[in-house]
Amino acid sequence: MAVERKVIFTQPELTDAEYQTIANFVHKASGINLLDGKKELVRARLTKRIAQLEMKNFKTYFQYVLKDASGDELVFLLDALATNLTSFWREPQHFDFMVKTLLPELEVRRKKSGGGGPRLRIWSAACSSGEEPYTIAMVVMEKSSYFANGGDFRILATDLSTKVLNVAKRGQYGPESVKNIPPTALHAFMNKMEAERGGHLYVVKPEVRRIISFRRFNLMDDMPFRGPMDLIFCRNVMIYFDRETIGKLINKFYNLLELGGYLFIGHSESLSGLEHKFQYVAPCIYRKSAR
Ligand SMILES: C[S@@+](CC[C@H](N)C(=O)[O-])C[C@H]1O[C@@H](n2cnc3c(N)ncnc32)[C@H](O)[C@@H]1O
Repeated sequence: MAVERKVIFTQPELTDAEYQTIANFVHKASGINLLDGKKELVRARLTKRIAQLEMKNFKTYFQYVLKDASGDELVFLLDALATNLTSFWREPQHFDFMVKTLLPELEVRRKKSGGGGPRLRIWSAACSSGEEPYTIAMVVMEKSSYFANGGDFRILATDLSTKVLNVAKRGQYGPESVKNIPPTALHAFMNKMEAERGGHLYVVKPEVRRIISFRRFNLMDDMPFRGPMDLIFCRNVMIYFDRETIGKLINKFYNLLELGGYLFIGHSESLSGLEHKFQYVAPCIYRKSAR
């Protein structure tokens, strides 16, 4: 008679010392600050992984992360602890600003250059599952016939988490996710398909996907990208960083931007009190301007 083997998993305890060690390590590796009252979050999100690996406690797991020379478990750890909440057309005033200010400025440049046309380079610097860069691409393509029809336009979309980047690359979203996309853009830039498990899925069309390169990049690392960028979106990620980390990051953004280029940050974020050279334009919009 077969005997059923039950693996009994006892929830490991996370001591204050272990929590501090993990939080300090994550802060150094990613800038994410988990030190202020995030013990429960760390415990809940890592307990699942510890159970999967059939380990007994946080200490053993943390040693495993440190010993893993491939770096894969570090990626897994950071994936588990990052907050990836995002949506299409999130904080829409940024997209209104692009339509009312940025695209007309580029159009003036295009006319002045005798029709050769400007290039447009945008970086979505913590793109999560792709809703932000796809929104940017759709806004530009819907409002600028020049960029919609072959004008030199590229978006670099990066994130720390490989998990969300895989979702972004797939470019498939459920009906709930697409409800903020204006109907004209939904119709123009997404195909509606039958989902395998019933219902519908919306798939980003190839002409939009072609514009975007998704890559893993940790904002704490040196920038390997060739600028200059015309626009950088870094929204709803600096909220997890401390002031010193934000200060360093925005100066890197400044150096990467074209003169006249813009930085957009999230609505609960602020650059006030930090040393920087940006000119304030509107809430959460800053410009690299000639001084
Ligand atoms: C809340 S989401 C914001 C997504 C999007 N920018 C928006 O506003 O909707 C924050 C994203 O930042 C990413 N992130 C956190 N730390 C990061 C780091 N050090 N480097 C790059 N991305 C990071 C997370 O993986 C997550 O996908």
